Amino acid sequence: MHRYGLIGRKLGHSFSKKHFTAVFRKAGLKDHRYDLYELPEIEALPDLLRRTPGLHGLNVTVPYKEAVIPFLDELDPLAAAVGAVNTIVVKDGRTQGHNTDVAGFRSLLARAARALDKPGSAIRPRALVLGSGGASRAVAYVLREAGIRFRIVSRSRNRGDLTWDLIDPVILRVCRLVVNTTPLGMYPDVHDAPPLPYSALTPQHTLIDLVYNPEETLFLKHGLERGAKAIGGAGMLRVQADEAWRIWQAARKG
Ligand SMILES: NC(=O)c1ccc[n+]([C@@H]2O[C@H](COP(=O)([O-])OP(=O)(O)OC[C@H]3O[C@@H](n4cnc5c(N)ncnc54)[C@H](OP(=O)(O)O)[C@@H]3O)[C@@H](O)[C@H]2O)c1
Repeated sequence: MHRYGLIGRKLGHSFSKKHFTAVFRKAGLKDHRYDLYELPEIEALPDLLRRTPGLHGLNVTVPYKEAVIPFLDELDPLAAAVGAVNTIVVKDGRTQGHNTDVAGFRSLLARAARALDKPGSAIRPRALVLGSGGASRAVAYVLREAGIRFRIVSRSRNRGDLTWDLIDPVILRVCRLVVNTTPLGMYPDVHDAPPLPYSALTPQHTLIDLVYNPEETLFLKHGLERGAKAIGGAGMLRVQADEAWRIWQAARKG
């Protein structure tokens, strides 16, 4: 059996098993399977690798995208530059970390770009990135690549540029792109949203939520109510999963 799977702390919300099971079925790969491996601590990874013969690849989710790095044998250059891993290749007893959230977020940013680049505007958009975890690192990498200046909002003073209590309507008015990389609003906590002064949002704003379940989070609803463009995380999810599958297939052939 050729095995793939997802590691994370709580995986009840995961779309990956359904997605990859469908990919395998469509490709006629009857001897491939995808499983969810809930790990209470990332220290449990070496044991999982030891007791799972036939494992070729893993996806990594909350909260292990950064914590997994010291447990890997190597990193590909993109994952090293981002500082987070969401895809692992297992080959010949060695593990290599990759980051496909970058490709996923590039696809969301491309959808936002038309709204942000107003013709004739000399003002480059500025962004707020909410949260400082693994996905935030991929978002920061892509924003840097696109030349968009941004600030990271964190609960902790030493992980971000700003703490939540500092986000006033003036800051929110200036930052026309707001990206939620926190899990706030994710099923089942659908009545949660990042604590922002939403009344400062305008039709010139674009909100991107990495949360994909529900498709329209309370964060995005707050934006839509004020005429902002709202982009959910479902598109990113598909792109990052396709990219992971491409990497795993290339590793098997190579
Ligand atoms: N659509 C996609 O393809 C896609 C891809 C990747 C991730 N995601 C989603 O993005 C979210 C984050 O994923 P991740 O892997 O980056 O997780 P993570 O590594 O755990 O990071 C999440 C960050 O959010 C902040 N946060 C957590 N709980 C919070 C709370 N109660 N209030 C305020 N801030 C909080 C924390 O930043 P501070 O410690 O700085 O406050 C934390 O580091 C998840 O919902 C995940 O499903 C979606």
